[in-house]
Parts: sequence; structure tokens; C-alpha cells
Amino acid sequence: MKVSEAVASRRSVRAFLDQAVDAQLLRDILGKAQRAPSGGNLQPWVVHVLTDQALARFKALIAERKLDQPFGEGAEYPIYPDGLCEPYRSRRSQCGEDMYASMGIAREDKAARLAFLAGNFDFWGAPAALFICIDRRLGTTQWVDLGLYLQTVMLLAREAGLDSCAQEFWTLWHRSVAEFLQLPAHLMPFCGLALGHADPAHPVNSLRTERAGLDESVVFHTSYTATPTGAAHER
Ligand SMILES: Cc1cc2nc3c(=O)[nH]c(=O)nc-3n(C[C@H](O)[C@H](O)[C@H](O)COP(=O)(O)O)c2cc1C
Repeated sequence: MKVSEAVASRRSVRAFLDQAVDAQLLRDILGKAQRAPSGGNLQPWVVHVLTDQALARFKALIAERKLDQPFGEGAEYPIYPDGLCEPYRSRRSQCGEDMYASMGIAREDKAARLAFLAGNFDFWGAPAALFICIDRRLGTTQWVDLGLYLQTVMLLAREAGLDSCAQEFWTLWHRSVAEFLQLPAHLMPFCGLALGHADPAHPVNSLRTERAGLDESVVFHTSYTATPTGAAHER
């Protein structure tokens, strides 16, 4: 598979088949992902993989705790800033609307929307769950490195015929995640990654999220004309 095919075919899968991921294949993907770049080659990712009984035990723990704390333990970091501004606010709500539309869930049907979102607890049915963690003593630049690592894993998964869904959702349960994984105090779980075989029959997997046009995100500079204030461009 070409890199461009892996990039184009990667999407967040929210319904997986009940089909195990071969343990050696998983090791192989994660072994290759160690080549992900990072500033200063710090390689700040620490990854915990749950499958089989370990995954079942983790889900059971959260299911039990959810009874007392239906909304989780409180996110350890803000998933989005308060008062998310435009154009991000609209993009976020559009992707949610498109996702529910793919399944025919109406805007007013809050119960159905919440029930669907609860699939996060189940890693969307994936047989393998990764937790990507970072050392708290590192800074924002190293969080970027985690993103590079995450995308590397997701693309290698595509090459191996697998699909994935990153899950910031799990920061809502960061205490239980850290406890279950027996993380040392300096490690913070950043996100989960559900990994497995996509269910081709589930309508949510037909979702293709929108992207801004190239000109909304990229400015090509060829000639340079300074404005009177000295600012070449407002972006
Ligand atoms: C770091 C990160 C965290 C995410 N967290 C969640 C999550 O908790 N639950 C979920 O369903 N999707 C999650 N997503 C998936 C995004 O919603 C998705 O990537 C985005 O809408 C673009 O769609 P696509 O991945 O299908 O291209 C996350 C994605 C990223 C990169």
C-alpha cells in the first residue's frame, strides 16, 4: 500500500468486527511505529496495549465505576478550549452531525446520540486497545511528537489491513486508566486507540469527514510585499 493510500483510507472506525488482531502483527506495527520522528529524538510515547482478558478486565472496571460516576472522573487536560472559536466550533459540530446522519440518528434524538457515544467505553468493539501516555515533565512540543506517533501507528495499521479510532475520551477516566495500567506517577494517559478490523456493514463506517479546502489551511508564498506595518500577511 502506498503512503497516499494509507492516508486516504485512514478514517476513524467506530464499529469493529469481533475478530482478534494477531498478536505478532500488533507487535510488528508497533515495532515499525518506533520510527516515528520526535524533536531531539526524545521518543516521548509510552504505550500500553490491552487485549483479551486484560481488555475485558479493564472494561469491567470502568463499567463498575461508571455506575457511581456516569460522567467520568473529569478530564485531566482540556480536550477543547472553553468557548471554542470559529472555524473550529463549526467543524466540530459538522463532524458530529455527519456522524449521526450516517446512522439516521436525528438531531433531537439525544438519547440515541448518547447511546451511540457510549461505544467509546467499548473501544467501539475493537479487540485491541492502546493507551498512549506521556511523561508529565515534558512540554507541549512533546505532545506534538505523540501526534506524529499516533498517525504513524494509524497508517501502519491501514497497511496491515486494520482500522483504528483515537480516543481522547479516555482522559475522562485518567485515574482509573493509570491505576489499571499501574502507571508511575510521572506518566499521564493522553489518549486511547481502538484497533481492529472494521465492520464494513455498519453505517457509521461509511462516514467520510469533511476537510477544509487547501486554500483555507495553506498559504503559498512566492513573492514578498511588506505592508506599511511590516506584517507580510495577516496569518
Ligand atoms: C487525538 C484524537 C482523539 C480523538 N478522540 C476521539 C474520541 O474520544 N472518540 C471518538 O469517537 N473519536 C475521536 N477522535 C476521532 C476524530 O473525531 C476524527 O479523527 C475526526 O472527526 C476526523 O475524522 P476521521 O478520523 O474519520 O478522518 C479522535 C481523533 C484524534 C486525532
